[in-house]
Parts: sequence; structure tokens; C-alpha cells
Amino acid sequence: MPESPFLAACNGRKADHTPVWFMRQAGRYMKEYREIRKKASILDICHTPELACEVTLQPVNRFEIDAAILFADILLPFEPLGLGLSFPEGRGGGPVIDRPILVPADVDRLPDVSPGDMQYVLDAVSLIKKELAGRVPLIGFAGAPFTLASYAIEGGSSRSFIETKRFMYSTPEAWHSLLSTFAEMVGNYLVAQVEAGADALQLFDSWVGILSQHDYERFVAPHSKRAIEIAKSASVPVIHFGTNTRELLGSMAQAGGDVIGVDWRTPIDEAWKEFPERGVQGNLDPTALFAPQDELRAQVRDIMERVGGRAGHIFNLGHGVLPPTEPDALDRVIDYVREGA
Ligand code: CP3
Repeated sequence: MPESPFLAACNGRKADHTPVWFMRQAGRYMKEYREIRKKASILDICHTPELACEVTLQPVNRFEIDAAILFADILLPFEPLGLGLSFPEGRGGGPVIDRPILVPADVDRLPDVSPGDMQYVLDAVSLIKKELAGRVPLIGFAGAPFTLASYAIEGGSSRSFIETKRFMYSTPEAWHSLLSTFAEMVGNYLVAQVEAGADALQLFDSWVGILSQHDYERFVAPHSKRAIEIAKSASVPVIHFGTNTRELLGSMAQAGGDVIGVDWRTPIDEAWKEFPERGVQGNLDPTALFAPQDELRAQVRDIMERVGGRAGHIFNLGHGVLPPTEPDALDRVIDYVREGA
């Protein structure tokens, strides 16, 4: 089988077209997904390989995208960790962690979690791989140690990450112990996803951009590096993603990743200068999908022109598809990319 455009780009090779996929491409903006959600919660879908498979394939069937991403959630390991996880309706559906990490002793109490504790995810990967039948590659994923720690400590989503930073600054030893526990867990989980059939991996460090470069380097980078190093033992490409990372891009690339994800705040060519020897993924503003067609096309064209056909570019949004997005807008983006905008 010839190398897919997505994997070619991940490996820094010229692809026969610019590959496109969308972070959070399976989800509430699709009516097919909302149909399933009427009868199953987000956790039910994750726990049931047949449903996870169905939802993973929805965007692959609907759009001409170049990769599938496993339907799961970065917070699933919190269940075997004993932290408790739910997504109550209302409150925007955000996660609630019932027993957050508050003091260093909470870190010592964490059980060893192995990939088999999320066997349902691995079963979903195998099933999706079979159902995809080689149409497009499958991306497995996990949360990066920092972003996981932020949810574990805050007990849910946060704006200012006060508790996370308080923990990091006041009990650095416990912080490093927590992040190194997460790094090993995530690394092994990613390897298991590849063994189950994933063709590439993405490490989501969505909120790491709230840190200064100095804090990133001393509190986070060694743990992201360790997670990626373990993941790389499975010999597939790894995408290392974060948002608000303009100042961190060089350090993130140092920590690892064959491809670095960039949001929309930095022009893609400027971002790429920070890691010229890696691939780049991004960087369309997810809210550009709400703009008039000319504006949307202009933004896609700007990205394509700045890349200038250089090998190693994966077209994506700078962060996930937002729930009110009109699916047709994604079709337009794909067309514009294919036409070279
Ligand atoms: O196609 C896909 O990407 C879907 C698979 C996927 C989900 N979560 C399913 C989900 C992926 C890749 C994730 C990653 C994830 N989860 C991240 C990193 C990516 C990012 O957006 O930064 C984060 C931070 C989470 C944690 C999380 N899960 C939050 C904060 C929320 C609630 C807010 C939101 O984004 O909706 C979730 C719930 C969640 N996970 C939903 C989906 C489709 C929506 C819940 C629903 O269906 O009701």
C-alpha cells in the first residue's frame, strides 16, 4: 500500500496532497454524534468499543479527511487512578473529578495504572482499525502529563490554574512525582494503542501555554520528554500539541515530537522556524469557520502560502472544532486546501 499523505507528512516526506484532519472532528457539531448521545453518555461511548468505533468513523464517512482519530478522552485514566470522572449535563458538559489531588499524600496513594486498565480503549482501536480497512490512518492519543495534572489538581476545567501552580511551586517534589507517574502511564498507554493498531499518536498538552518558558523547562519538559520517549519505542510518528505556546515551541520540540501542533496565534511559517527539522500541524483559527466564505478562504490561503508546499505540513485547526460549527464549513476548508486555496 502506498504511504498515505498523512503519514508521509508526519515523516517529513512530500505527500501527493496536503493532508487534512480536524482536532475534535468527532463530536457535538455533528448531528450523527448528537443522535448517539441521546442514548449514551460520553463515558458510555468511550466504554463501548462498538459505539466508540461508530463515532470515530462518522467524520471519516462525512468528510474527505486524511486521518481518523480514536474516539476517547484524555481524562479516562482518571477512572483506574481512583480520582473519579464524570461529565455532568449542564455546565457545558465539562469534566468533574470527584477526588482531586490536593496534597502530596494524594500522589503517594495513586495506584499503578497499566494500559490494560483501559482495555476498552484498546479494543476500540482494534475494531476501528478493522472497520477502516486501510481507508485512512488512525491516530491514537493521550493527555500530556501537565494537562492531565491540571485537571487532577483543579478537579475540572480552570481559567487561571491557581491550584495547579500552587501545587507546583509549593510542593515541587510531589509535583515531579505526579508528573513522572503520569509520564510513565501515558507513555505505556500510547505504546499499547499502537500495538492495538494505531498508526500515529498525538500528545495533547492543551493548556501548557499558561506556563512561562522557564517554568515549562523546569516543571514539565522532562516529563513530556519521558512520555514521548516511551511512546516512540512503538516506532510511529508522534504529534506534540499545545495552545498559546508561541514562546514554548522550541522547548516543546526539544521535549519531542515528529510534528509540532501550533494554534492560530502565530503565523505558521514563523512558528515553523522554531523547529525547522520537524513537521508542523495547524493553524487555522476554529472560529474562522464562522466567517463568510471569502474570509475563510483567505485564511486558508494565507496558511498554504506561508507553507509554500514544504514537506511535513498537516493542515488542521489550531484547536478543536467548536460545537456550534456548521459541518459544511469543514467541507469548504478541505476544498480550499485541495485547490491550494
Ligand atoms: O474527534 C475527536 O477528537 C474526539 C475525541 C476526543 C474527545 N476528547 C471526546 C470528547 C478527544 C481527542 C478529546 C481530547 C480532550 N479531552 C482534550 C484535549 C483536546 C482539547 O480540546 O484541548 C481535553 C482538554 C479533554 C477534556 C474534556 N473532555 C473536556 C474539557 C470536555 C468538556 C468540554 C468539551 O470540550 O466538550 C470533554 C468532553 C468531551 N470529550 C466531549 C467529546 C466529544 C464532549 C462531550 C459530549 O459529547 O457531551
